[in-house]
Amino acid sequence: MGEELWAFRALYFRVPAVLCSYPLGDFLLSEQALEKGMTRALELALRGPAHGVNPQVGAVIMAANGEIVSEGWHLGAGTDHAEVMAIKNLRAKLPYPFTSELTAVVTLEPCNHTGRTGPCAQALIEAGISNVVYAASDPGDASSNGAQTLRDAGVEVLGGFMAAQSEHQLRVWLTANKKKRPFVTLKWATSLDGRAAANDGSSQWITGEEARADVHYRRSLAEAILAGTGTVIADNPELTARKPDGSYYENQPLRVILGERDLDSDLRVFNDRAETIHLKTRNIHGALAELWARGIKHVFIEGGPEVASWFERLDLVDEYLIYLAPVLLGGDRVALRDIGVSNISQAHRLEIFEQKLLGNDLLLIARRS
Ligand SMILES: NC(=O)c1ccc[n+]([C@@H]2O[C@H](COP(=O)([O-])OP(=O)(O)OC[C@H]3O[C@@H](n4cnc5c(N)ncnc54)[C@H](OP(=O)(O)O)[C@@H]3O)[C@@H](O)[C@H]2O)c1
Repeated sequence: MGEELWAFRALYFRVPAVLCSYPLGDFLLSEQALEKGMTRALELALRGPAHGVNPQVGAVIMAANGEIVSEGWHLGAGTDHAEVMAIKNLRAKLPYPFTSELTAVVTLEPCNHTGRTGPCAQALIEAGISNVVYAASDPGDASSNGAQTLRDAGVEVLGGFMAAQSEHQLRVWLTANKKKRPFVTLKWATSLDGRAAANDGSSQWITGEEARADVHYRRSLAEAILAGTGTVIADNPELTARKPDGSYYENQPLRVILGERDLDSDLRVFNDRAETIHLKTRNIHGALAELWARGIKHVFIEGGPEVASWFERLDLVDEYLIYLAPVLLGGDRVALRDIGVSNISQAHRLEIFEQKLLGNDLLLIARRS
């Protein structure tokens, strides 16, 4: 049975265990033990940086009795990959190459290429690891097929284990690499009646402090923040990521302004708190291509309605962050304008996968269903 089908089944991991068990055969460890290992590996992955060219990956090595005997995670480009860190940690405890039956559990298919570090598949083979379980498949042009390299060397391999959880955690990196453009998060804050500003154009602030702090935190996880010239002129925003005490997050995304109008250099977005580029174009695909060429994998769209509508109309939004405040504004300054829907049958239907109360405001996180 193909790995894709097992990954698909894993999406429904809440159905009774008998329906979603994996084809373990005479695999060394039980599904329960592997679930414990993968859950830990997913936690470890988050210790790595959210930005940069490489993904957040975690790995554990398990003994035949199900004990986790070593852990590893990736700390960013140029440093050891998670599997290699786990192998190195175990070398301090066991003679190398390892002779006991060991299982490596990794959140992403072990890589197959020599970049700044060597291929992980080869490192696992050389270490004598007999079983490898991974969650998400590697979509990279050069790095994929690690599973096949392992199988060719006689290693027992199980792919797609808890793939849905790992793919969700890795969604920015996976989507960007599959689509060869930055992952696009579209954020807006509106009144309950869907207005992004009052009739005079003022929108600061529709939401309360907690919601705004949440936006700043999420900005700090992105690599670029993009707004149209309309917002930059109307609101004079700084477009930086700041903590509630006013201090700045260590990571300041690139500030990107989109639109043909000339802008006054005194605007706050041109201060020295972060790098800023003004793309004097209305070509959204071109802008994303330019950001991708600069190595940007995650762009946070902060509006306003004109730019947001175009991203939506062009079907370029990967994730929606919708902050809803319990206020009514009326008027015609709606969050989105024409997105190409003229008939209800063409509605862009969303699936909400997270919701959170932030003070009096509600955050909905959604994707296209
Ligand atoms: N509630 C919220 O979450 C939120 C967030 C941001 C802004 N706002 C509010 O939104 C209002 C500003 O709205 P807005 O729609 O003017 O802002 P905008 O979307 O930021 O800027 C619109 C401008 O972007 C340029 N542009 C770039 N690419 C374009 C494209 N593909 N198609 C058309 N235009 C493109 C155009 O200017 P050029 O002529 O320069 O090309 C256009 O006039 C303000 O009242 C602000 O307070 C609310």
